[in-house]
Amino acid sequence: MSTYQRIVILTGAGLSAESGLGTFRDKDGLWSKYDLMEVATPEGFARNPEKVHAFYNLRRNMHANVVPNAAHRALARLEQNYSGEVWIVTQNIDELHESAGSHCLIHMHGELYKALCAHCGDRRPWRDELSTDLVCPSCKAIGGMRPDVVWFGEMPYQMDGIVERLAACDLFISIGTSGTVYPAADFVMDARQAGAHTVELNLEPSEGASLFAEAHHGKATEIVPTFVDRLLNSSQSAHPFENRDT
Ligand code: APR
Repeated sequence: MSTYQRIVILTGAGLSAESGLGTFRDKDGLWSKYDLMEVATPEGFARNPEKVHAFYNLRRNMHANVVPNAAHRALARLEQNYSGEVWIVTQNIDELHESAGSHCLIHMHGELYKALCAHCGDRRPWRDELSTDLVCPSCKAIGGMRPDVVWFGEMPYQMDGIVERLAACDLFISIGTSGTVYPAADFVMDARQAGAHTVELNLEPSEGASLFAEAHHGKATEIVPTFVDRLLNSSQSAHPFENRDT
């Protein structure tokens, strides 16, 4: 019998940083090089779709040879070996959780390797470049194909399922996220309201660090496998991780 029955894990760009993918808000992060209003909003896409396509085509190429790191692998190991339920809700649009072997996964900000038709809503795997002259394979409209990612101002995916899982969880872990983007930044409060134990695993204290009952700071490839190992070994002890900061 494990200590926690239902675990929800929120992940962000910091989890994939050591796989070679840049974060957004760290020094040299993506938003220091690109104007997010131009490349990550519906308005930006309407104004200059070529620029938005170029941004995501570049990211698709950057992601092509990237592999999961020890932190992704540890989370997959947790799902496979833990006696309770483990759900990952990721803000990341990369596919490193899947590549590592995680299955109980929600991509709340969409997926880089999927395309969405703005005309008919058709959504399908898409590994090639996207451009303004593409024909939707479903409705045959021209010019409506866009990356299946959630831009600023759009509603994240599967919110009902996420809220439901947060309301039922007894352990919430936030990994590699700055805690600056909503609604994900509020998940810790939802989990607290559900009575869950809350843990932050991040390189440094996030914006919402004070909201967590427990924190471990360091590189994801180091602190995540350690935490997962403790969790897998924790079934015999009541609250093995409380109020520690490494
Ligand atoms: N290990 C652990 N944490 C790390 C590492 C690492 N190796 N490297 C960086 N971090 C931490 C940073 O300290 C920072 O707190 O990861 C966090 C990354 O924060 P952001 O760049 O803001 O990324 P994220 O929180 O995922 O952004 C949320 O914002 O731009 C949007 O849609 C985009 O999904 C993204 C959302």
